[in-house]
Amino acid sequence: MLLTCCVACTGGGAVASGAPAAAPGLGDRLLPGAGNGGYDVTHYGLDLSYDPTGGRLTGTAVLTATATEAMSAFDLDLSGLTVGSVRVDGRPATFRRDGTELTVRPDRPLARGARFETTVGYAGVPQLLTDPDGSHEGWFRTDDGALALGEPVGAMAWFPCNDHPSDKAAYDLTVSVPAGLTAVSNGELAGTATRGGRTAYHWRTTAPMATYLATLGIGHYTVTRTSTPSGLPLYIAVDPRSDDPQTADALRRLPEVLDWESGLFGRYPFASSGAIVDHLPKGVGGYALETQNRPAFPGDAGAPAVRLDTLVHELSHQWFGDWATPASWSDIWLNEGFATYAEWLWQEHEGGTTVAANAAAALAGTSDWAFPPAAPPTAAQLFAPPVYSRGALVLYELRRTMGDRAFLTLLRTWPAAHAGGNATTAEFTAFAQRLTPHDLRPLFATWLYGSAKPAHL
Ligand code: ARG
Ligand code: ZN
Repeated sequence: MLLTCCVACTGGGAVASGAPAAAPGLGDRLLPGAGNGGYDVTHYGLDLSYDPTGGRLTGTAVLTATATEAMSAFDLDLSGLTVGSVRVDGRPATFRRDGTELTVRPDRPLARGARFETTVGYAGVPQLLTDPDGSHEGWFRTDDGALALGEPVGAMAWFPCNDHPSDKAAYDLTVSVPAGLTAVSNGELAGTATRGGRTAYHWRTTAPMATYLATLGIGHYTVTRTSTPSGLPLYIAVDPRSDDPQTADALRRLPEVLDWESGLFGRYPFASSGAIVDHLPKGVGGYALETQNRPAFPGDAGAPAVRLDTLVHELSHQWFGDWATPASWSDIWLNEGFATYAEWLWQEHEGGTTVAANAAAALAGTSDWAFPPAAPPTAAQLFAPPVYSRGALVLYELRRTMGDRAFLTLLRTWPAAHAGGNATTAEFTAFAQRLTPHDLRPLFATWLYGSAKPAHL
């Protein structure tokens, strides 16, 4: 059968008759259903409106994407919420929901290479999701708004997306909230407009961003807009209830930490920085997350919302994770190992625990040895201690083997080598090997892939 639509297809040429539906997942070893086959998103245009009283989110998401194969249908990831309409290139498309898959069938197949626009109208009360490890992500409702945190797959709780770190995109997020509340997100504030008792905040992220790094904080915040001595704009939003002295102290040192990290990891990769400190209801958990540009810190009564070590950790992720992003979830140690090592370096720099003492403690720990950092056995272990401290031990060992000079070059050049993109563990080991004449294979076999605990450092 000949498809008459082909003449109208943009780019890519003719669509083969009977083009198949694209895969509903990317086959990630740890989260096989995360993300979708068939396309690459280049831009998310999210136009949202939130009602903190009822917890209802109403929105339109416009995804600009390129088809990577000829396809008659494709999936988006979306958890909960009600989809009212889907259009592809302006024409109504049929759609179906099945769990967290939203299957879209455009009125004509898409050619490989075609650039297409999917518009999803949706609404509902976004949910807090429970991860395989029992932690929460997605949409944390607060008593004055909400905080969205999505590692590994929580973005789908508030917008339809290709929810996998391998598909990074630019974002324009406009969110309307009751006047008097602030909405803070990634990137830079491109404008605000108040009309009819509501304020719309337009946040723009031009640097490619993985979905798990997208955030949105809505509520009463004290906003501080300053810049670092080198002129980097800062936007820091703090829920006044989480503004304890330790938090204020840590945030005051944010420019100093960025400067110190830039000295080690290379130029800060993004156009702005800052932080979001929110007050979560008791008992919902929450964790600090390296949301792009502006890490998020959920505070809870009783404990300081932001510890300096945690600030160092989350800011280091801007290089290791946000700028150079793991290609798959198995590569997560490339984030957490580096961020843990950054904390060790900071403690030593501050005259506290030395890197050697932290390394010795990690070797002595028992929970740290459950599995090799490059191979978390299941998604429940993505954020388990071996990923963090054994990941950092890989770097500790690398430094001893390569020497300071080559190792510091590695720290500085690795993120830049994958600027705005993705990286695999195999790319990292090859990259490190190119910087030293020493054969690194035994080191990686023991520390990155080995199950047995080495007897000593
Ligand atoms: N990446 C975060 C960190 O900086 C941890 C995220 C944990 N996520 C989760 N769902 N438990 O360590
Ligand atoms: Zn981390």
